Amino acid sequence: MSLDVEAHGPPDAPAVVLLHGFPLDGAMWRHQVAALRGSHLVLVPELPGASRTMDQMADAVAQALHARGIARADVVGFSMGGYVALAFAARHPERIRRLVFVDTRAEADSPEGRAKRMTLRGDVEREGPPPAVRAMLPGMLTPATWARSRDLVEEVRAMMLRQPTPQVLAMVDAMADRPDRTGMLAHIVAPTLVVVGEEDHVTPPDAARAMQQRIAGARLAVVAGAAHLTPMEQPGALNALLAEFLGEP
Ligand code: MLT
Repeated sequence: MSLDVEAHGPPDAPAVVLLHGFPLDGAMWRHQVAALRGSHLVLVPELPGASRTMDQMADAVAQALHARGIARADVVGFSMGGYVALAFAARHPERIRRLVFVDTRAEADSPEGRAKRMTLRGDVEREGPPPAVRAMLPGMLTPATWARSRDLVEEVRAMMLRQPTPQVLAMVDAMADRPDRTGMLAHIVAPTLVVVGEEDHVTPPDAARAMQQRIAGARLAVVAGAAHLTPMEQPGALNALLAEFLGEP
């Protein structure tokens, strides 16, 4: 499965892969790209590409690394991108240097969650991205950001609206069918950082804490003033965490 991957920074620098969430694209990482491109080769895949499952997306990322002659990379996954990072950790552990999970969870959808996704799927099939915007945009940002940073709200809305309907549907299907990965967390040996917005109600701090506690030696960072979309809502805080964690020898 091929994947479009944007590359920024020196080709011979340590590679970091940034995996975006739903229903978004690689532009959600613009602050992290700006911060990391001086020290890293930053690779930003556009998910899902031709993939239809988390495992296929993980394999496509591995293929993209292989095609560039990159043996190992830091892998940073936000929400759905975290589900891909978990699949990558399960299938390609030898390719991981460090892992960062941002506002994500290891559990599969609950039956109720899956049913809600299937309703959303039907709505998106009929109307395109707007139902996904209605479902996802409110929880992405804190009430304070909604009140004070309309530009950011509109930037995220526009990103959601520009996603092609077939890609949105493929992301919904892959998320609905993803397996529970809690059991494999104990097998992760890469140094791992788990980050969550203090006000994230989509993948809440409890889910992040549960992940951190199952991964040997993992650290947890709770970011104040962030709901779900921490990379865009508190880019300075996340960039500082990444600079410290990815910069460690
Ligand atoms: C995301 O931000 O990628 C989604 O919230 C993930 C999900 O719906 O499970």
